[in-house]
Amino acid sequence: MKVAFFSTRKYDSQYFSQYNAAYNHELNFLEVPLNSHTAPLAKGHDAVCIFVNDQANEEVLQELARQEIKLIALRCAGFNNVDLKAAAALGIKVVRVPAYSPYSVAEHTLALILTLNRKTHRAYNRVKEGNFALNGLMGFDLHGRTIGLIGLGKIGLVTAGILKGFGCKVVGYDIARPAEADSLGIDFVDLDTLYAQSDIISLHCPLTPDTYHIINSKSLAKMKKGVMLINTSRGALIDTKAVISALKSEKVSYLGLDVYEEEAALFFEDKSENVIQDDIFMRLLSFNNVLITGHQAFFTSDAMQGIVSVTLQNISDFEEGKALKNQVLP
Ligand SMILES: NC(=O)c1ccc[n+]([C@@H]2O[C@H](COP(=O)([O-])OP(=O)(O)OC[C@H]3O[C@@H](n4cnc5c(N)ncnc54)[C@H](O)[C@@H]3O)[C@@H](O)[C@H]2O)c1
Repeated sequence: MKVAFFSTRKYDSQYFSQYNAAYNHELNFLEVPLNSHTAPLAKGHDAVCIFVNDQANEEVLQELARQEIKLIALRCAGFNNVDLKAAAALGIKVVRVPAYSPYSVAEHTLALILTLNRKTHRAYNRVKEGNFALNGLMGFDLHGRTIGLIGLGKIGLVTAGILKGFGCKVVGYDIARPAEADSLGIDFVDLDTLYAQSDIISLHCPLTPDTYHIINSKSLAKMKKGVMLINTSRGALIDTKAVISALKSEKVSYLGLDVYEEEAALFFEDKSENVIQDDIFMRLLSFNNVLITGHQAFFTSDAMQGIVSVTLQNISDFEEGKALKNQVLP
């Protein structure tokens, strides 16, 4: 199949080209994101392959249909950026990578928690400058603390297992109680209980109309003073303005983000020569108890291998008319 890849970087073309030897598709790597301006670039291809911040709204899908695109292959798990109803109406199938190393995201969640708690980002800079003072670097033992996980799917459960290894009490909420909750020792609770009990809250649910701004001024008011909040899922789970107010009032004492609701205009690009125009993002950066990474939680060699081979297999299955086990339906 001839596939146009949008939003690609060097590591995408390296991994996909290497693994494609076994699949033999014709891959065309484009750096630009998919949107209404760039959709005509799909011309002459059979499928497009897109990532987390590419836009596949109705207007874009109509253009893709005009270019006779039959398949959208998401090289990620989330599919909140695709209008599935419009795709189905236009006869475009959508496939994704439902599971790839959940350890990549769960371990990055721990990296954010440990860095914020033990302030290793600040210690690193201090020691480099010959400053060995400990003032301001005091943390707390994770052992015995209560961690609340919202979303107990693949990543939430792996995160729970790691936290259990630290000796934490894990409370969890999900719309569906997973069978593994008991064996992992997760205390399954309602959201209000989770907010009231947790010293650290970490988000592992998808972005849906139900979870949009699930962390807002009302839910923040129900949390413990001094709570640590971690989001490695999708930016719009958090109402950023509300969390900034909570940081200012010291209700939230630590914020770790790998995702941000307006990240599409920033992440995956080198903006170091630009003036960043997003004032809300810049306010977040001004707090020394806020740690932001640019959507890198998935970015391990193990996860990339999984993403690449499942994406290429999804495309081959479509080409060969096989059942699409990773199809996303409206
Ligand atoms: N930062 C990254 O690099 C990165 C990488 C992969 C995935 N993610 C994000 O992590 C999320 C979780 O991934 P996963 O593989 O664990 O997905 P998953 O589908 O295995 O688990 C998601 C869980 O969330 C639950 N859920 C759905 N709606 C909910 C709600 N309203 N309240 C509470 N729980 C709800 C589901 O029942 C499910 O158990 C993805 O949706 C994606 O947005 C981020």
